[in-house]
Amino acid sequence: TLPSKVKIVEVGPRDGLQNEKETIPAEIKIELVDRLTRAGFVNIESASFVSPKWVPQMATSSEVMAGIARKPGVIYSALVPNMKGLEAALAAGADEMVIFGAASEAFSQKNINCSIAESIERFREVAQAVKQHGKRLRGSISCAFGCPYQGEVGVESVVDVLHRLRDLGCDEIDIADTIGVGTPNKVQAVMQRLTQEFPIDRLSGHFHDTYGQALANIYASLEVGISIYHSSVAGLGGCPYAKGATGNVASEDVLYLMRGLGIATGIDLDAVVDAGQFISQHLGRKAASRAGNAIAAK
Ligand code: HMG
Ligand code: MG
Repeated sequence: TLPSKVKIVEVGPRDGLQNEKETIPAEIKIELVDRLTRAGFVNIESASFVSPKWVPQMATSSEVMAGIARKPGVIYSALVPNMKGLEAALAAGADEMVIFGAASEAFSQKNINCSIAESIERFREVAQAVKQHGKRLRGSISCAFGCPYQGEVGVESVVDVLHRLRDLGCDEIDIADTIGVGTPNKVQAVMQRLTQEFPIDRLSGHFHDTYGQALANIYASLEVGISIYHSSVAGLGGCPYAKGATGNVASEDVLYLMRGLGIATGIDLDAVVDAGQFISQHLGRKAASRAGNAIAAK
């Protein structure tokens, strides 16, 4: 039997927008986060305190965090690659810090300019400080199902990074299909294996939809019992260090699926559709959400 309820982590304001070439004004990002808050998301990844030289679009993160209307109980998360990022995230009042590593050595180098082992050493200090400040700590594992640079990624590499993030005290760990290459049987095998290593209710699926497999992979993960999923309003996004990768699975599509399956999310699909149309209009293109566009056209 599938879980009766799931937590959807909205990552559009961060993973979605980080790849946009044109600078998006902070007011637009703030309006987007506020709309997502009103739609009922309990966890919104809203900022990324990385080097602005590496990801210029996220340079407005402090402004965004200062401008949003926070709803009590909602977790506003931020990516932090190092102590410098952590200090900025703490100053901005982020509720949850995300340390992000990879199961692929090549991707780690391209994305954060260090080896996997070096990244864990860097995260150790960050993790301790996050805990000292009483904040939530989340860990993300990129390329869990394949890497744009090295190709195949073995499950043991994922397990190894999972162990290290677990040992740093992560409250939640994201299993990410950065380039969307996973398919359901593989996803089930990897997820099943990881549930032997980390509490199932603290593992999440972060699926990009590059090959159109994300919803199938979510369903496959539901069958394993995974109950936290990341999605991006209007299917925004891509990773600047994973060429050709498209956005995360669209939040509207995931919510439509959950509604059909009778799985509770606590989120108002129509309000998310409106948020998706809002940001797509600003970006001057059609939303990359099938359900979102179908509902908006009615
Ligand atoms: P580096 O160049 O090795 O770092 O980059 P450094 O320590 O040598 O610093 C170089 C310069 O950056 C210095 O400035 C630092 O002050 C500055 P300079 O002295 O040259 O003027 N700097 C910073 N500035 C602001 N905030 C900071 C910061 N850190 C250093 N936190 C670093 C290493 C990790 C910083 C860099 O590689 C970086 O920022 N990478 C981030 C890449 C990124 O954001 N990728 C996308 C997010 S991950 C993702 O999308 C995947 C995910 O969605 C899951 C999935 O789908 O797979 C999570
Ligand atoms: Mg991602």
